[in-house]
Amino acid sequence: MEWTNDLTRLFQIEYPLIQAPMLGVTSPQMVAAAANNGCLGALPVGGLSPERTAALIRSTRALTGRSFAVNLFVYEIPPATDEGVASRMQQWLRGIAEESGLVYEDKAITAFTHYSYKDQLQVLADEGITQVSFTFGMMDDEALAFCRQKGMVLTGTATSVAEALALGEKGIDAIIAQGIEAGGHRGSFLQPERLPEVGSFSLIPQVADSVQCPVIAAGGINDGRTTRAAMMLGAAGVQVGSALIASDESLAAPSYRRALQAAKDTDSRLTRAFSGRWARGLFNTLMEQFDDAGLGIPEYPYQNSLTTAFRAAAQRQDDPRWFNLWAGQSAGGAEALPVQHILQRIIREAEALS
Ligand SMILES: Cc1cc2nc3c(=O)[nH]c(=O)nc-3n(C[C@H](O)[C@H](O)[C@H](O)COP(=O)(O)O)c2cc1C
Repeated sequence: MEWTNDLTRLFQIEYPLIQAPMLGVTSPQMVAAAANNGCLGALPVGGLSPERTAALIRSTRALTGRSFAVNLFVYEIPPATDEGVASRMQQWLRGIAEESGLVYEDKAITAFTHYSYKDQLQVLADEGITQVSFTFGMMDDEALAFCRQKGMVLTGTATSVAEALALGEKGIDAIIAQGIEAGGHRGSFLQPERLPEVGSFSLIPQVADSVQCPVIAAGGINDGRTTRAAMMLGAAGVQVGSALIASDESLAAPSYRRALQAAKDTDSRLTRAFSGRWARGLFNTLMEQFDDAGLGIPEYPYQNSLTTAFRAAAQRQDDPRWFNLWAGQSAGGAEALPVQHILQRIIREAEALS
């Protein structure tokens, strides 16, 4: 099978396989393993401080001589959120924390610090990063000009044809078509009140027909069949997420890995409970109680900040009832193996189908 195409040339990789950036799960070791095996590793730093961003880039660089992508959350931080909605949410979270022995950080909603992607771009430039992927939106013109001037290759995320066109109009170099199957946050950005729910089988060919640049399929890719199918549908490459969550290099807690490996096709749902943004995860107690509570929800990133300490405590206690178990619809059976084995298996299987 001939793997070389526009995407492998753009990213200067051997195989058009991208290790999905997964904040909270992807480690520098995971990125390096993908890069060292001829794929594109992607380091997630969405919302992190400039200092943490630089430290993670350096840790990754110490593990691989190959280039890798850095992944940002690109959106405008709302200057304020409804304090009444936030305080009712805080009260609810405090109640759960008290009942279940979790930590709740009691802090005014206005006291949290939020970092914009614009605070991180200079770090990426200083660290010599030339591959940048992003989700949640489109860079503003100033940021775009900065990245262009620094020679960065830009990859955006679309969950509909309209979003792909919006990225394409700005001359983005590659577009991730994220199907509704995908685990984690939705990249949707054009109509937040009407979340696009397009499956990969419909999304990939329609996006590929609409834009000039290479398209990367994300959502449900975990083997040779799904890789080949995505490429038959018009994708130039694939982004593999959930299939790497149980890998040796993953930061996922033991209970999360177990739940993921046992997951059935129907076990994940979309929720805003953890962060205020729609995301797909395995249905758990927090999601259920949130649905029952009928509460208003502070928008991202405020809700994300309100639940950060709470989720971290649940992870430390390895109690999967209370933290986000991000996973896609094909997450079940994710292998507890090194990233290298998983990526090489996918490549071998795809080659065998030629
Ligand atoms: C745990 C988890 C965290 C994620 N975090 C990010 C992120 O930081 N940035 C991003 O662009 N996408 C993120 N995603 C989406 C993935 O990059 C990718 O699009 C998705 O996992 C592909 O679908 P799959 O899970 O079915 O393989 C995340 C997904 C998961 C499962």
